[in-house]
Amino acid sequence: MKMKSIVIGTLFLIGANSYAQHLTLKADNIDRIVKELTLEEKARLLVGRENSKSKTGVPGAAGTTQGVERLGIPGVVLTDGPAGVRISPIRKGDSQTYYATGFPVGTALACTWNPELVENVGKAIGEETLEYGCDVLLAPGMNIQRTPLCGRNFEYFSEDPVVSGIMAAAYVNGVQSNGVGTSIKHYAVNSQETNRIEVDEIVSQRALRELYLKGFEIAIRKSNPWTVMSSYNRLNGTWTQSSPELLITILCDEWKYDGLVMTDWTNERRTSYDRVAAGNELLAPGHDWQETDIIENVKKGNLSMDIVDARVKRLLEMIVKTPRFKGYKFSNKPDLEAHAALTRQASTEGMILLENKDNTLPLKGVKTVALFGKTSYDFIAGGTGSGDVNKPYVIDLMTGLSNAGLTINEDLKQLYRIHKDFNDKANKVSGERKELTELKVSRRSIERLAASNDLAIFTIGRQAGEGRDRHIDNDFNLTTDEREMLEDICNAFHALGKKVVVIMNMGSVMETASWKEMPDALLMAWQPGQEGGNSVADVLLGKQTPSGKLTMTFPIMASDVPAVNNFPTGTGSKHGDRRRNVDYTLHEEGIYVGYRYFTTFGKKVSYPFGYGLSYTTFAYSKPVVKATANGFTASIVVKNTGNVDGKEAVQLYVAAPNSGLDKPVRELKAFAKTGTLKPGESETLHFHISTYDLASFNEAESEWQTATGKYEVQFGASVEDIRATATFNNKKMFSSKTNNVLRLNRELKEIKP
Ligand code: BGC
Repeated sequence: MKMKSIVIGTLFLIGANSYAQHLTLKADNIDRIVKELTLEEKARLLVGRENSKSKTGVPGAAGTTQGVERLGIPGVVLTDGPAGVRISPIRKGDSQTYYATGFPVGTALACTWNPELVENVGKAIGEETLEYGCDVLLAPGMNIQRTPLCGRNFEYFSEDPVVSGIMAAAYVNGVQSNGVGTSIKHYAVNSQETNRIEVDEIVSQRALRELYLKGFEIAIRKSNPWTVMSSYNRLNGTWTQSSPELLITILCDEWKYDGLVMTDWTNERRTSYDRVAAGNELLAPGHDWQETDIIENVKKGNLSMDIVDARVKRLLEMIVKTPRFKGYKFSNKPDLEAHAALTRQASTEGMILLENKDNTLPLKGVKTVALFGKTSYDFIAGGTGSGDVNKPYVIDLMTGLSNAGLTINEDLKQLYRIHKDFNDKANKVSGERKELTELKVSRRSIERLAASNDLAIFTIGRQAGEGRDRHIDNDFNLTTDEREMLEDICNAFHALGKKVVVIMNMGSVMETASWKEMPDALLMAWQPGQEGGNSVADVLLGKQTPSGKLTMTFPIMASDVPAVNNFPTGTGSKHGDRRRNVDYTLHEEGIYVGYRYFTTFGKKVSYPFGYGLSYTTFAYSKPVVKATANGFTASIVVKNTGNVDGKEAVQLYVAAPNSGLDKPVRELKAFAKTGTLKPGESETLHFHISTYDLASFNEAESEWQTATGKYEVQFGASVEDIRATATFNNKKMFSSKTNNVLRLNRELKEIKP
């Protein structure tokens, strides 16, 4: 007996050892794995790796997580970004190329008002993520476009949270349908680039809830992003990355988010264990000292092992979903050809026809074009920084128009080529990288060109991006040279009865009020991705009918936007300093951002939110609104009353009854777009609105509230063009308490895991 028991004991011991040796991560043994991990291994998992220092990485990707080999935990690859997969296109000693498709920027996608299209673009970007061996795409960017001056507006969707949230969800659903992840970013209130690492955004609880967090809330509820990226900035005194109220109370407890939170690519931070405590599962890009910091603070009792385990568990729950964990054999051969066709079509749908006097567009009988503007020959496909994509090519406007059969004036072409060559050579000699200035074509040359060409096209380009906000002079506004050129072109061509078309090639809005009457047509092409020139040609020639509408207001002057007066002007912010518009940004305008301000205070704009012309016209029927158990449904019939095929985006706004709470005159609650309607054809659009969708945030009560009473339901072609109205009578007061997060800088010891 005794003997047997010893034998059994030995066998058991051998069994346990070999079990530990062979224990590897599976989707259903995460708790067991967490128990098995040492503190050092847990710290390693919670701290990422810069791509250059990682063995797992795909060249040019943004970073990786670290693996634990003995337990079969792989490192996984994180890559930017919103307009396509950002990896290195060329690898040493490898003749294959790894270009990714450059899709239209976020603003252009949102301006389609077509979530289905955005989802399809997401699907294509997701396929490239997967086939290039990446696991998580660091996109979409979805901060509120608070002012026209934010350098990263191009990556973001809108000044409105409903548009931002719905578009982000569509994008996430598309990308993730490939079995790869996304990271909605930057959570939260990252609406400026200047001092983005230090700045403290001071925002009221109401504006936070109704604007800056709302889009994230919608995206979380309508899709399930694998990850959320916590932003660089501070918010009401606390780093967003150190705020358990933001990362746990609101995100996880209120919105029921069960995915992973990673920090934005933070290099300088005094501590890191507090970020783990506050709700980040991954410190990115990751530094060795952060691992040490976590280990030491667990040992000192500043960070509990329970919290570490909870974070590691969530991280592993993400890892087991990744292609790398599943051993997916990626091809490095995504379908670039199909995606080029998709981006060409998608970008046309986001372009906005702002002016079209006497039906100048689509072009008729035009054969020869005098093509002005340096950007016509060097089209801007996307913004700069992590949102830029290493794309195989960019079709400029000259090429796009030539592809469409138009003849581009050769002399002018040569002139722009010489101008660029001269600049390139000067840069080479001086070692500087001076940007190409706009070429000032003389009035006499313009007059000659007017005599020998059917049409003038002038492209105005603007570039901005990560780490670089825009300026009002020579950026938001026209430069003196651009204005003089535009005047000369319009005078010369109009004198001969010929037309002038202006193309705007940029990532955000600009001043137009002082010059928009000059040209005959004005098209906002945004930054339309690698097929940009072809896409613009498709619209100019009527191959595609424009159906894009603005998701951001064009103010008359930059200073008309209240937030511009509370926008950073200085740099050199240091932690602890308190200088207004340097160290902190006061959101004095509260909820009155974008159209909420212009419509409520009766301030004139150049082009309103939701505006965009078409080559055809649409009639809206009398709408039907029906109360439901928790809100209402609405429907409206849209008919194409013009002569060509087209699509129409209808915006549903609501004007709330007086409830004692200050309210904008109307707020967007939903939108829908028809498919392509032939002349005479109709389509019924349907909308569903809940009483929660109608709620405003009452700060005093820390509660979402929807008052009883009559709500006017408005169906708009834009925020200023309401075509039909109906009424919804809310009989039951709706309220929903939230956690009081007024004190965002609560003591760390109060944190719950
Ligand atoms: C940007 C993020 C980006 C990350 C990785 C950061 O500087 O803010 O948007 O995903 O870098 O490249």
